[in-house]
Amino acid sequence: MRFLPFQLPRWPLLGGISLWLAMGTSAAERPVSWYRDLTPIFKRSCNGCHNPNKLKGEVDTSTYAGLLKPGKHGPNFLAGDPAKSLLVEQVSGPEPDMPKDGDPLTPAEVALLTRWIQEGAKDDTPPDAYSTRLKELPTYTSPAVVTSLAVSPDGQWLAVSGYHEVFLLDLPTLTLRGRLLGESPRIESLAFSPDSKSLAVSAGAPARFGELQVWNVAGTNQVHAWKLGTDSLFGVSWSPDGSRLAFGGADKSVRIVALPDGKELIKFDNHSDWIFRTAWTTDGKRLLSGSRDRAMKLINVTDGQFIDDINKLLEPVVSMARHPKEEWAVYGGADGGVRLYRMKENQERTAGNNDVNLVREFERQPGPVQAVAFSPDGSRLAVGGMGGEVRVYQTTDGARVATLGGHGGAVFSVVFTPDGQRILTGGFDGLIRVFSATDGKLTAVLVPVPLAAPRDVVAK
Ligand code: HEC
Repeated sequence: MRFLPFQLPRWPLLGGISLWLAMGTSAAERPVSWYRDLTPIFKRSCNGCHNPNKLKGEVDTSTYAGLLKPGKHGPNFLAGDPAKSLLVEQVSGPEPDMPKDGDPLTPAEVALLTRWIQEGAKDDTPPDAYSTRLKELPTYTSPAVVTSLAVSPDGQWLAVSGYHEVFLLDLPTLTLRGRLLGESPRIESLAFSPDSKSLAVSAGAPARFGELQVWNVAGTNQVHAWKLGTDSLFGVSWSPDGSRLAFGGADKSVRIVALPDGKELIKFDNHSDWIFRTAWTTDGKRLLSGSRDRAMKLINVTDGQFIDDINKLLEPVVSMARHPKEEWAVYGGADGGVRLYRMKENQERTAGNNDVNLVREFERQPGPVQAVAFSPDGSRLAVGGMGGEVRVYQTTDGARVATLGGHGGAVFSVVFTPDGQRILTGGFDGLIRVFSATDGKLTAVLVPVPLAAPRDVVAK
């Protein structure tokens, strides 16, 4: 048995006794492991209040690096000296201060913590401990919810969100060509570059990190993966010249980064809630961001300055699309509104009319509108959402020209093919439906996910 020199702690009886008890057990034969022995205890009893997003007392117990940072009242521990370690003091005694509002740690747990500090408080966290990376491609027993679809401007590719990955399909034949496995579990948005050679992915792990990925489409290899902030990123869009990427986030900021180095050019913090979508003006000089705070904000791309809200603030903006020819953008709202606006200053607003940029209000939808998409010539607008139907309108007069049904639940994404012939939809049921854009007929239903059973493209 190892002899452990230790000082008698300054707290009374309980901690001291438990220390002796722990020494009699087999765990005392080897040094205490931070990662194996202690992180499960912190995870269960402490990390709920002490993590990077919720720093009670400015203490982060969720990682070794976090614990190393001093809290509001100084260092959390002094390696080699449990008696001078705040951490030990807080969890010890008959009525320990921590965990607040929870069961105290057991004497054996307190003893482990104490001995770990006594032994030098060493970090033995494995290098990949906090990686959300999968060791191999996921297998699916049912289709994964489709949060996003994108088609390449050259009509060659279809990208479909999966779990931890993006499925890359050949668009003309709808056959799987690649599985783009990245670190983030949640894929939030997809966008092909103007030259169709790259795919940008905004993603993340909620409340942990956001991630921006760039893939080389032809080689199906990841070119960039940048971790940004502590929450998911949404609504990625390419500048018209393909040199920059814009996106929003759950951290309420809009960012623009440069390619290929990922340098942050703009961080815009004028929104008061999550930003779901971004869209550039055709000249690439301005960016529009649509947020749950109900605003579509116009941003000067050169200096990151706020220009104006282009819309009247009526409902959370949950989806947005730019008109391919006019400087117009349409939003889909949380209350079912679908409203088309000019992408310009709202300066001429008066008491009588504070929505001067409104071009057209479309038929109100039966629920939140998660997906809006213009046909390539701008003549049609497809709208989908919680109602499970996709409705197609004429942009010029707002008349409904088709209704695409059969979805098993909410629709989260709608795209037109670049030739304007087909409309693809994806959503809660995990199926991709292909409709004729001319008569609204369902032409194929595709399971993008390789299930245990053979993948089927069902011709109708
Ligand atoms: C329910 C929420 C909650 C839980 C669970 C919790 N804490 Fe805390 N903790 C707090 C709050 C709130 C403070 C700030 C107290 C203050 O400033 O008075 C705090 C402060 C601390 C401090 C700093 C004390 C100081 O004086 O600066 C330490 C160390 C600490 N907690 C450790 C822990 C440990 C270890 C656990 C798990 C065994 C834990 N906490 C569980 C809420 C919690």
